[in-house]
Order: sequence, then structure tokens, then C-alpha cells
Amino acid sequence: MNFLMIGDVVGRVGRNALHSHLTEIKKKFEIDFTIVNAENSAAGFGLTPKIYEELITMGVDAVTLGNHAWDKIEIIDYMESNPNHSIIRPLNFLNDSPGRGYKIFDHSNGKKILVCQVHTKLFINVPLNDPFYSLDTEIISLLEAGKANYSFLEVHGEATSEKNGIGQHYDGKFTGIYGTHTHIPTADARILSKGTAFKTDIGMTGDYDSIIGMKKENAIKRMRTGINSNRLEPGEGEATISGIVIKKESNTDIASIKSILIGGVLNREEF
Ligand SMILES: [Fe+2]
Ligand SMILES: [Fe+2]
Repeated sequence: MNFLMIGDVVGRVGRNALHSHLTEIKKKFEIDFTIVNAENSAAGFGLTPKIYEELITMGVDAVTLGNHAWDKIEIIDYMESNPNHSIIRPLNFLNDSPGRGYKIFDHSNGKKILVCQVHTKLFINVPLNDPFYSLDTEIISLLEAGKANYSFLEVHGEATSEKNGIGQHYDGKFTGIYGTHTHIPTADARILSKGTAFKTDIGMTGDYDSIIGMKKENAIKRMRTGINSNRLEPGEGEATISGIVIKKESNTDIASIKSILIGGVLNREEF
């Protein structure tokens, strides 16, 4: 099967880019299942029910979050009144947190696909359980019991070292492990030694003529003065869609991973 993962969609330009190109991307790479990080999709901060439903209508199968999960608080009521939702927040949020940290999807071809997300702990101001402990106690037993044909772990976090530590520790357990959150794609997509497809960060889907998706002027002013009163707003230039395509058949050990960059100032793909 072929899987598409799209990095943090930032604001309207990120959503518009997906709206314009997702169908052709899925066609070109013969994608069977799509995961999109949408923690910044609503004006840079959080996810609204309306945007979630738009993503699903576009052909997205699973929507992941991160430290911005609850910036738009209405998504919590939506998840509670729509229990079949496909929204996944970090598994290692504290125990009373709303939502779910993983979901096993039933594909129309009969295969089961597990999608989960953890948040790393360095340089992040969110209360978290230990990500290794959460994975060991909640996910690994499911994988070892054969509950999924394919499994993906999104590692949302700031430090490349910590993301590599989780990737290497769980090499061979998941079909793919990939990072999100920094909004800058790394150049290390590869198959790890025990067969897991890995990339430290898959980047953002937003305007790269910016500071990680936000308009430059106010972001720089904040850095230079320490005054946070200037509102950060998403950039309005054409977005680059940044992500990965992982290909793997469930009956073989051989996987492949390819990075994609489409549109905007980082464009690398011809359509
Ligand atoms: Fe984040
Ligand atoms: Fe983000």
C-alpha cells in the first residue's frame, strides 16, 4: 500500500494548497491512505470542526494534532459528539485529556492501519507523560498481537535528537515513524536498519517566505523586543506542500520513503 503524510498545514494558504493539489498528488503516487497534521490549520492555531470536515471531504483519512491541539477549544465538543472521528492527538497527553492518541482504521481493501502520535519533551511547555512509556504500555502490545497490518507513529517535537531516539528505539515495530512540529523539512528520509521508514521532520504545508508559517514582521519584532502583544498571523504567499510517501506491502519487509515538496518557494515537484 502507498501512504501519504502531509506536514503541519498552516492557515488558509496551506488549506488552499491541499484543496488544489491533493487529488493529483494522490493520483500521481497511487495513494491508498492519507494522514495530515492540522494543528495549525485554523489561522495558525488549532483545528476547527469545519476545517476537519473539509479535510475529510478532500480525501484525508486521518488528522493529527500536537501542542496546538486545543487552541480552538470547540474541537473537543466536536470529538465528543462524533465518536467515530479520525482526529489523533498526542498519546502521551495527561490521562484526563480529551480525544484519542491512536486509532486503528479499517481500509476498504480489508487492511488495518494503526495511526498514533506522541509528543517529545524537550523545549516544550505542555504537560506530558513519558512518550516511551505511553508507547510501551498502549501501542506495542497491539502491534505484537497483530492488530494492524500497517502502523505509523508521528513524533511531534522540537529536538531532532529526541525524534531520532524514538525512531531508532522503535525501528522494526512500525511501518513508518516521522516527525512534525518544527515546520522545516529535514533531508534524512531513509529506511532504518530494522526496516522502518523514517524522517526526522516532514516540514509544514504553508508559506515558507515567513517564520515557520507566520508573517515575518511580527515574528521578528517579538524576537527583538520580547513583547508578545503583536499577533502572529499566517503568511499569505503560496504554500509549499511538504510531506512523504511511504510504500510498503504487508507481506514483505521492503519499504520505501520519498519526500515531496510541491508549490511555493520550496517547489521541487512538477505537475
Ligand atoms: Fe507543534
Ligand atoms: Fe505545527
